[in-house]
Amino acid sequence: LKKTRKVFRVYMDGCFDLMHFGHANALRQARAIASFASTGGKEGGYVEGAEEVELIVGLVSDEEILRCKGPPVLPEQERVKCVRAVKWVDDIIANVPYELTREFVEELFSEKYGIDCIVHGDDPCYLPDGTDAYAIPKALGKYREIKRTEGVSTTDLVARLLEYADASENTTSKSAGDESSGGKRSEKNERHEARFCTTASRIAQFAAKVSYSKTSKMHEETEKRKTDKKQRKNEKNEETTCCYVVGAFDVFNAGHVELLEECSFVADKVVCAVIADEYLTRDKTNQPPPMLNQSERAMSAIACRHCDDVVVGAPARLTDDICKTFNVTAVVFEDDDAVTERDRNVCEKNGVQILSVKERVFSRKKLTIAKRVQANRALFEE
Ligand code: CTP
Repeated sequence: LKKTRKVFRVYMDGCFDLMHFGHANALRQARAIASFASTGGKEGGYVEGAEEVELIVGLVSDEEILRCKGPPVLPEQERVKCVRAVKWVDDIIANVPYELTREFVEELFSEKYGIDCIVHGDDPCYLPDGTDAYAIPKALGKYREIKRTEGVSTTDLVARLLEYADASENTTSKSAGDESSGGKRSEKNERHEARFCTTASRIAQFAAKVSYSKTSKMHEETEKRKTDKKQRKNEKNEETTCCYVVGAFDVFNAGHVELLEECSFVADKVVCAVIADEYLTRDKTNQPPPMLNQSERAMSAIACRHCDDVVVGAPARLTDDICKTFNVTAVVFEDDDAVTERDRNVCEKNGVQILSVKERVFSRKKLTIAKRVQANRALFEE
């Protein structure tokens, strides 16, 4: 991470477990602090003549989370995948300690990492012994705060996942004819009441293009893959391609990231179609409704660097209109088994290829994640 140019480098650490749009908004604000500081703003210091800004994320290790907060839902490998897909992140330092010790802070500010300022949300953050986790950078005057996003947290998502796992179990037993095991709850068609305000300006902030750091090694390979592809196409004078990805994108996770990244390799443009709440009710899908509402689900997709555009509340099916509007050349359904005869006909008529979703390394099934949460709860209950 040694600096080779004049860069203003901001550092934000965290667990980023069940990465949500609140985390994404924190990362966005951290990078905005860097941009402001690099242009001479008083906040956060000033690197004279800084050519660019960088946001480096310190990802707390699984062992440290276990020690300080309890077991994480998602292992480090999946948390890394989610954080690096956020469009404001330039690099990651994995396995960082939960506690910002003097030794580690000095290392961050040394040539090795070249950090100029440490940023965290305005919620108090205490170590197991009750002391302020950010006391050292605060005392050094190299600490800045961003506003924590209301209405979303990992704890809140864990509660929603537990409810979802229980409701899904009830669905299974009910369909197996077992009426005794709480069919009532499974019939519920409710979602957690959303407490996040999706404003036009927030969407605009999330949707704004980000210029990546030229020194960041993390994105080098994927960016090169995309640029090479563009170049090859230009040489052959081929038409621009658009991959339209339809899904609920509930509890955005490493599987979604993999899917969207893969699509960005095959097409020039990726449009993520986040299905509207009205199509995802229990009576229409025979599944509990999504844990997050359509605006919340869309915010995570907008923050993902692999999406070129996002439909906030899309129809569940592909239509002729959609094909024309986006010049769709390929379509992917979040669930392979979601493709209907009607979809196939629309695709044939509009010359759209249906791409099959390969077996992925990371499970995209939210039920799998919900089961992990259940397993963690069982550990606590033991
Ligand atoms: N954060 C935020 N808004 C939220 C949740 C988190 O701004 N709704 C910020 C935190 O303040 C922190 C960063 O995101 O600077 C990473 O947070 P993390 O360490 O993962 O954990 P928490 O602060 O506990 O967040 P959560 O409650 O969601 O786990």
